[in-house]
Amino acid sequence: MKPLIGTSFKMNLTSTEVRRYIEVLGPLVEPLTACDMFILPPFTAIWAARECLRGSRVAWGAQDVHHEAHGAHTGDVSAPMLVDLGCTFVEVGHSERRRDHGESDEAIALKVNAVLEHGMTPILCVGEPTRRRTTEAADYVSRQLLSTMHRIPVQMRGQVVIAYEPVWAIGVGSAAADPQHVETMHAAIHGVLDGANPRVIYGGSVDATTAAPILGQAHVDGLFVGRAALDPVEFAAIAGIAR
Ligand code: PGA
Repeated sequence: MKPLIGTSFKMNLTSTEVRRYIEVLGPLVEPLTACDMFILPPFTAIWAARECLRGSRVAWGAQDVHHEAHGAHTGDVSAPMLVDLGCTFVEVGHSERRRDHGESDEAIALKVNAVLEHGMTPILCVGEPTRRRTTEAADYVSRQLLSTMHRIPVQMRGQVVIAYEPVWAIGVGSAAADPQHVETMHAAIHGVLDGANPRVIYGGSVDATTAAPILGQAHVDGLFVGRAALDPVEFAAIAGIAR
């Protein structure tokens, strides 16, 4: 399978800015056939991504979803609404949503199931909250992952993309985890989900410098980029590392 290189814009970029972003990104990544790519704009700009990316090699999706298909949930967005906008990926359980919205593993599992039921690919984020020894981090993440995955039907588990994102490595002022830690964690995740064989991608301060050594690890199936990818030229450079 090709490496999967994606980004979430988080709460950045208006729909106008997303259009400009794609105008720059599109031609740079069109020749990069060695990887699969996606972008996750805010809800308000998904329509613009659809307009600009249709027919291109870059997929688009959303950063969250409600687990129910419709109903009295003011301000929420459902899986059928995302399907209607051509979304194929939906991020679930990012640490910023766990932190800001108190999302539990159980709530996150309901979302993963909603995404799968509507034929899209969930990107399930997991990661230890603080820096610790790799063996302890692997225990934490295994428990966190199983707490969600045991609520997903066995035959669907391989369709979930797992994003390993150590919380301490995310955001301004942080540095990416070292490649050896990432490799051990990804191997542990593959071990925990033995039989399902999902793609496991790494996120947390990935940039054009840290991308290559991390992507070079045997159990790393892709990269999930945050702030470095807000520059389309840098995002294209990161995608260009995949071979
Ligand atoms: P960052 O975000 O690259 O800005 O650290 C990563 C993420 O949250 O996925």
